Amino acid sequence: MIEIADLHKAFNQGQHNEYWAIQGVSLSLARGQVTAFMGPSGSGKTTLLSLIGCLARPTSGRIRLDGEDISGLPERFLTELRRRHFGFVFQQFNLIKGLSARDNVMLPAYPLGLPHRQLTERADALLAQFRLGHRADARVEWLSGGEQQRVAIARALINDPPILVADEPTANLDTALSREFLAILGELSGAGRTVLLTSHDPLVLDSPQVERRVALRDGRVVEA
Ligand SMILES: Nc1ncnc2c1ncn2[C@@H]1O[C@H](COP(=O)(O)OP(=O)(O)OP(=O)(O)O)[C@@H](O)[C@H]1O
Ligand SMILES: [Mg+2]
Repeated sequence: MIEIADLHKAFNQGQHNEYWAIQGVSLSLARGQVTAFMGPSGSGKTTLLSLIGCLARPTSGRIRLDGEDISGLPERFLTELRRRHFGFVFQQFNLIKGLSARDNVMLPAYPLGLPHRQLTERADALLAQFRLGHRADARVEWLSGGEQQRVAIARALINDPPILVADEPTANLDTALSREFLAILGELSGAGRTVLLTSHDPLVLDSPQVERRVALRDGRVVEA
């Protein structure tokens, strides 16, 4: 369970361009559910996801992960927490060019210091799961958009995180690839993972794979 209580986030606090991107969000998010955050551009979706995923710190308010308060932890704990709990898929995928699909998938696992062979096997298994086994050695820039996205999902799962965070995951995908992503989403939630995503895409928002919709506006929840 993820519990968010009266969360606020200011950018440039105390300066002339101070901006409150999150203005008092309170929410409980169940484990094992697919939740989609929706709302107009600038409503705070990405900011909220990055606060939940410990990529940024709230200005005030609390986030509890299975009862543990993660909002006040020092950075060195956050890094570890992030690695243990979260996998991230970004809109631009953020894959490292010049590296193979397999090496990209393995990257987030290096800090854990697992034996290289075990890591390679795990990366290959994930790539195979997403029908990319035959492309493991290909440089990511040689892959199609949909293939790159599946590499990004595999990379997000390499540390076996219980929570997958995906910001506008279908923004760069055509309809067929977006449907493919939804199918993957269904598998992930079927396997008990919690998925938090943002989307503008009706194909995603209206899909049966999305179990809960949270609408934001001006940094506030207007519908949950
Ligand atoms: N680092 C930052 N510094 C200053 N303002 C920021 C920063 N990041 C975001 N903002 C502002 O906070 C508001 C919310 O941004 P956010 O990226 O969360 O919106 P969003 O709902 O994800 O929008 P979109 O649908 O366009 O991705 C925006 O007005 C944005 O300009
Ligand atoms: Mg955004």
